[in-house]
Amino acid sequence: MAGRLSKTDVVSIDDLAIDEIERVFELAEGFAGALERGEHLSVADGLIMATLFYEPSTRTRLSFESAMHRLGGAVISSADMKSSSAAKGESLADTARIVSGYADLVVIRHPHDGAARVAAEYSLCPVLNAGDGSREHPTQTLCDLFILRRKKGKLKGLTVALCGDLKFGRTVHSLIYALARFGANIVAVPTSGMDVPEYVLERLAAERNYSFATVTMDELKSLAGGLDALYLTPSGPHQMALFTRDVPLEKIPAAEPPSTLDAFYVTRLQKERLANTDTASQAYVRFDARALRTHRTHEAVVMHPLPRTDELAYELDTDPRAVYFEQAAVGVPVRMALIAWLVEQTKASRERASSVTEKIRFKAEPSPRCANSNCITRFEGAHLRPRFRLARTMDRAALPLRCEYCERELRVEFVGHARSHRYYRYDENLYGYVRSWIDEGSLAVFETVKQAEENGYEPYRRGPQREVMDSAEVATAITSLAKQIVDDLPDLTNVSIVGVVSRGAMLALRLRDAIHAIAALTLPCGAIDVYSGSDIVQPLDGTTEFGVEDRNIVIVDDVINSGWTVQRAMTALWRLGRPSGVKLAVLIDRGHRALPIRPNYVGKRIPTSRTERVQVRLATNGKHKQQDRVMIYSVVEPMKEDQPG
Ligand code: CP
Repeated sequence: MAGRLSKTDVVSIDDLAIDEIERVFELAEGFAGALERGEHLSVADGLIMATLFYEPSTRTRLSFESAMHRLGGAVISSADMKSSSAAKGESLADTARIVSGYADLVVIRHPHDGAARVAAEYSLCPVLNAGDGSREHPTQTLCDLFILRRKKGKLKGLTVALCGDLKFGRTVHSLIYALARFGANIVAVPTSGMDVPEYVLERLAAERNYSFATVTMDELKSLAGGLDALYLTPSGPHQMALFTRDVPLEKIPAAEPPSTLDAFYVTRLQKERLANTDTASQAYVRFDARALRTHRTHEAVVMHPLPRTDELAYELDTDPRAVYFEQAAVGVPVRMALIAWLVEQTKASRERASSVTEKIRFKAEPSPRCANSNCITRFEGAHLRPRFRLARTMDRAALPLRCEYCERELRVEFVGHARSHRYYRYDENLYGYVRSWIDEGSLAVFETVKQAEENGYEPYRRGPQREVMDSAEVATAITSLAKQIVDDLPDLTNVSIVGVVSRGAMLALRLRDAIHAIAALTLPCGAIDVYSGSDIVQPLDGTTEFGVEDRNIVIVDDVINSGWTVQRAMTALWRLGRPSGVKLAVLIDRGHRALPIRPNYVGKRIPTSRTERVQVRLATNGKHKQQDRVMIYSVVEPMKEDQPG
């Protein structure tokens, strides 16, 4: 059944064209007046809006719900997803599909980057993004632009200083894209370590040829000509660069170089998104009335998407230039306008064509996972395969794939051709070939050589191979490993084995049996897949859970090449708990490795050079039985003039 509203999703602010945003503003002005006059409206009569909020909200959810009620529509709401079936593990895709059967419009907020795009793909009715992870918050931007234009009479040529957490602030990212399109100037004033992310800058540069200046708060103070007497530097070079006509023009997109600041857009530190590795500044911006005292800033308005924490002084609240409460209040007429615009779209039978170009669907296995640990594709399960497109960048030294969901770049080091089952270290000379492999659906990408080989790919060129161990020698090496472990670890009852998928996991089971043959004890045994994007250890012994806490863990792998795989397995283990000790057992120690990881237990030492590869082939119980064998061969890297044909 066709929906009551045409399938027009607003996942990004860029889903709305400039003239569409202008139309929303026109409608919003009308609704603001109608609200003041207390008019009864019926624009959304018979329509139901569902609000799915996987994260807390005051303004966005309540103003959306108020907007729908004011338009004569109805609302169903999951304000706390802990009381929905999401708490039982229902995927976002299923939730979106189901709820879109109960409503005509879905508004979603979610902690993961790209979640709104997933909801839009699976929902039968339009989806409006109310904030997804640190990516975007387009309807907040509509409110921001609306209030800015109301106060300044225009958007083109304005200069807006964005202050605070510009890394995780999703409202900032949507606002940047929009200001760039409206021809406004941006001065980024990030708190230390909270700069605008690369993927935002690259999108601006690639799609709009737009860039902006970044300064520290102290620099801004001096640039603005005396925001704070302490930091005043009357005619410093930065001041020339930012506030006079000597501005480097390529940095300033608008026709008029700025001489004053028109708005400060202050944001709170997004504490909920900080990872352990993020350097949240001790000295976060604290914005007060002093910032508005100079002749360059005294006309500026102060905006904030709210909620505020300590970054915005309460003393500003009574200053007429503080517009943040009005900015929140217009959330109702602006969101009414957006809903009414959707109704207009429907009446005019306007459907959106899919806007995505150069989409890569990986027919070849394995399909890569997104590098962003907060990307929705890392949480949704196997039904949602990461999707990438080639990023528009001049730098092709590493293959730049951009995630369709969260927009982060994945820089690929190894590529494979699915039909020939050859892999290559990527360099820019391969770009043309990779484009054709994408077209024919035969591109595979790998994080490591080991991953390529585990998937049955061979290097593009290699020297002759020779066998260095046969199946009897492999068996002897496994027995030797078992003996070393039994001799070394005094309390075997506290030992568990974790094999690295895939050959390490096969060896782990054999090692467990060999230890049982010596010590008459069956150790718990699990497998970890470092490429899967999940940290779980899958029990291999029929149990349901694999314990790590206070256990002595023996990680098992076939060969250490760079050491990267083992390092990732160790990191994953430490995320699961605190083992009392971690040891490493490898069937083959080839001596060479990039990371300083030394195995505790070694089956056999086979010294090799950097250009040689050791490949372990293990017998399986499958159809194509093969003998255990360990092979060695030299890798010949493709020369520039010797690319695949
Ligand atoms: N500005 C904003 O998104 O506020 P809420 O988190 O309260 O919705």
